[in-house]
Amino acid sequence: MKIAIITSEMVPFARAGGLGDVVGALVMELGKMGYDIRVILPKYKQIEQQRFRLKRYPDLLEVPMGRKIELFMVQSTKLPYGPEALFIDKPEFFDRDELYGTPQGPYPDNDRRFIVFQRAALEFLRRTNFKPDIIHLHDWQTGLVPLMLRTVCAQDATFKKSRTLFTVHNLSQQGLFPPDSLADTGIEWKEISLSQLQFQGKISFLKAGLIFADMISTVSQKYSEEIQSEPFGCGMEDVIRSRAGDLEGIINGIDVTLWDPETDTSLAANYSKDTLEKKRENTLSLEKELGLAGESAPLFGFVSRLNQQKGLDTLIPALEKLAEKKIRVAALGVGEDQYQKALLEVAHRFPKLISVNIGFDEVLARRIYAGSDIMLLPSNFEPCGLGHMIALRYGSVPLVRATGGFMDVIDPCGADGTTGNGFMFHESSSNALVTEVFRAAALFDKKKIWREIILRGMNTDVSWKTSAKKYTDLYKRVTKKAVVA
Ligand code: GLC
Repeated sequence: MKIAIITSEMVPFARAGGLGDVVGALVMELGKMGYDIRVILPKYKQIEQQRFRLKRYPDLLEVPMGRKIELFMVQSTKLPYGPEALFIDKPEFFDRDELYGTPQGPYPDNDRRFIVFQRAALEFLRRTNFKPDIIHLHDWQTGLVPLMLRTVCAQDATFKKSRTLFTVHNLSQQGLFPPDSLADTGIEWKEISLSQLQFQGKISFLKAGLIFADMISTVSQKYSEEIQSEPFGCGMEDVIRSRAGDLEGIINGIDVTLWDPETDTSLAANYSKDTLEKKRENTLSLEKELGLAGESAPLFGFVSRLNQQKGLDTLIPALEKLAEKKIRVAALGVGEDQYQKALLEVAHRFPKLISVNIGFDEVLARRIYAGSDIMLLPSNFEPCGLGHMIALRYGSVPLVRATGGFMDVIDPCGADGTTGNGFMFHESSSNALVTEVFRAAALFDKKKIWREIILRGMNTDVSWKTSAKKYTDLYKRVTKKAVVA
């Protein structure tokens, strides 16, 4: 089976969020399984020529953009485990400091940037005669590809047998642009009806993917159910329901070699299931590093982007109530100003109990996963989430809100703690969070039971193995689908 993966992010090249991690790990697993893969990304500024040993594809390629012809180059590098990564090199669009925009807002030409990218990716496959059985697409940045295949590339022999799988990592990112931007794609309105792309007076690249892909997947089973109704559907619930028969939920994994407390060089002490007692050294070292009081109560961690999705409105008012009970929290993250300020303000009032670091600091993040006893994950919605899986791996018990990917992975502990690998609260409210925190803190005191909870967590399979297999099964099913006109 030949697979083309078109994506706007992939580690180690470019990452703005979980999408990059997921594509990087999935490609690695598929590569190990021996599939013939091409991954295509934009050549962003941070994908440095030397560091990644990029080679230039000899020909200059071209794609039509409205009435203009856009020229582009392609760079490539071989990944260590087989697949080839290709980069659409179009400096005027991608040689910028950020992937999608600055803190002031998205780049105003994101429609043009990603239309060129998608057309160019298909053009490269055509020119190199790579005939994919599956084209795996991710989020709005690649949502137009299925439509391009049915319109501007319809006569192309390269894609005759190609089927598309569109994976939604986050439905709230909808790729909304003025209707005029469609002109750049070369697709004409007479080929589709306006209602198929229209969304809130604009056109949505995401909606195009949802409507025209042969199959759709989301990054957890639960999220695939949630998005069929409000508010999770973000206005797209009817479209999604109309495709429910072609919708699948596959939970992500994490790269268990990158996230391994036994080999993680950021930690004060390495540990595994068999040497769990060493985890304590990480807690002591973290307390010292963050200036937190040494207490017998558990240490809670929170590592996250700071936005509405991640449940900051639930967490921030709860912190004060937790501090009153001497519960300590080590928080790290970066994001919206209002949340950064509010977090810093509580930390200022309880310096020995609440530590807040603003920024993206992977070393500290790893120390928090290893040093905390419990990780807080109060997200309002979470298509998959990676933090709960990292927490399980590091023996820090996840305390999650009941949503999306958390529900696929976390089995809530029963009252006596003899079953389950984490804690779960349902209502998005500070009270519900605080109640569950107190329940977890009470079980934490029962050392033997607590150890069993940790071990059940560390034994939970969060690797990519199972998930990658589910993707390949799904690819096989997609290839068997007849083309829908
Ligand atoms: C998005 C989602 C997150 C998911 C990630 C990777 O960032 O918000 O829940 O884990 O994509 O699929």
